[in-house]
Amino acid sequence: MIYLDYNATTPIDPRVVDAMIPYLREIHGNAYSPHIAGRAVRAAVVRARGQVAAMLGAEPDEIVFTSGGTEANNHVLKGVAHAFRDRSNRTIITSVVEHPAIHEPCRFLADAGVKIVKVPVDGQGLVDSDEVRRAITPDTILISIMHANNEVGTIQPIREIAAIAREAGVLMHTDAAQSIGKIPVDVEALGVDLLSAAGHKFYAPQGVGALYIREGVDIEPLIHGAGHEKGRRAGTEAVPAIVGLGMAAEIVCEQMRSDANRRICELRDLLHRYLSDAMGKRITLNGHPTKRLPNTLNVSFSGQIGLYLLEAMEDLCFSVGAACHSDADEPSAVLSAMGVPREVAMGAVRFSLGRPTTEEEINGATKRVLKALGVNR
Ligand SMILES: Cc1ncc(COP(=O)(O)O)c(C=O)c1O
Repeated sequence: MIYLDYNATTPIDPRVVDAMIPYLREIHGNAYSPHIAGRAVRAAVVRARGQVAAMLGAEPDEIVFTSGGTEANNHVLKGVAHAFRDRSNRTIITSVVEHPAIHEPCRFLADAGVKIVKVPVDGQGLVDSDEVRRAITPDTILISIMHANNEVGTIQPIREIAAIAREAGVLMHTDAAQSIGKIPVDVEALGVDLLSAAGHKFYAPQGVGALYIREGVDIEPLIHGAGHEKGRRAGTEAVPAIVGLGMAAEIVCEQMRSDANRRICELRDLLHRYLSDAMGKRITLNGHPTKRLPNTLNVSFSGQIGLYLLEAMEDLCFSVGAACHSDADEPSAVLSAMGVPREVAMGAVRFSLGRPTTEEEINGATKRVLKALGVNR
C-alpha cells in the first residue's frame, strides 16, 4: 500500500508508541491522587504539557489537553461566545474555507443568535487581511481563521490578521490542526490568543489534541465537571494519549530543526512534475503555488471525477475533498469557495505526503494514477 493521505491522519510514530507503552502496561494511577501511583502519572502529564508548550512557544500553563482539533475549536468558539454573553450583537469573523470543526460550531452559535461573518478567499484560497479589517465592528468578539487549509494547503497570513485583531482589541484564534509539524507554528510569532492542535496530524494517536489559551484570556470551558486542567476541561486526562502527544511534539521540534520538510516538499514537487509532464494542460494545481504546506498537492484532472479515480485504486491512498466529507455528487466546498469551476473541482484529488514517504512511493503513485487515467508516462 502507498499512503499519501497524511493530511487525513498520520501513523503513530514508533517513538510515540514506545513512550506510551509503559502508561498502558505498568504505570497506572489517577493524576489527581496524592499517593505514589498518582504522582508518577501526574509527572508524566506535566512533562507532556511542557513538551507541547515548547513546540508552540507557549508556557505549560497555557496548554489544555483535549480530545483533538474538533474539541479545541468547539471550546474556543462556544467558550468565547459564552464569555461575552452579556454583549448584544456578538459577532465572530471566520473564513469560507474553514474545516467543518469551525463551520458547524458557528452554525450552532448562529442558531443561538451569534452573528457569523465569513470572509471570502481568492482563487488560490487566500484570505485578504484587509477584508478581515473591514469586517471588524465594535460587536466583534473573536476572529477565527485557520492557519493552513486541509484540502489545498494554502497558508493564511495569520500574523497580519492577528496584528489587526490585537489593534482592534479582538481575540484571535487559529486552527493549526494542519500546520503543526509542517511549517513553524509559534504562538508568539503568530500573535494569536488561542490555537487548536490535533495530535493525529503530527504522528500522535487519534483522539488527543491541545488548545493553547494565552495567559489572561478567560473563556468558558466546553466540558464541565471536576477541576481537571485547572478547571478548563473536566474529565480524567487520557494519560497514555497525552504522553504520546508530548513525545510527538518533541519529535516535531526535532523535525523542524532538520531538513525533513524540505525533503517532503521536494518529493511533493516531484510528484507534481511527473503528473504534469504526462498530463500537460489536463492537470491544474488547486491552492497557492508557494504559500502552501510543503506536503500538500491538490490537483484537478480535467474530465475526471476525483472520487471515481480514488475508488479505482487498490493500493494507493489519497483523498478527494476532505476525508470526513467526501461525496461523489458535490464538489468540495473549499474549492467552490475559491471559485474553482464545478467541472474542475469534481476532478480534484489531494495527495499529502509525510515523514515516511519515499521516492519509490512517489514513482509508484505516479504509475498507478497515470494507469488509472489511461495515460502513458
Ligand atoms: C483544519 C482541521 N481542523 C480540525 C480538524 C479536526 O481535528 P480532529 O480530527 O483532531 O478532531 C481537522 C481534521 O481533519 C482539520 O484538518
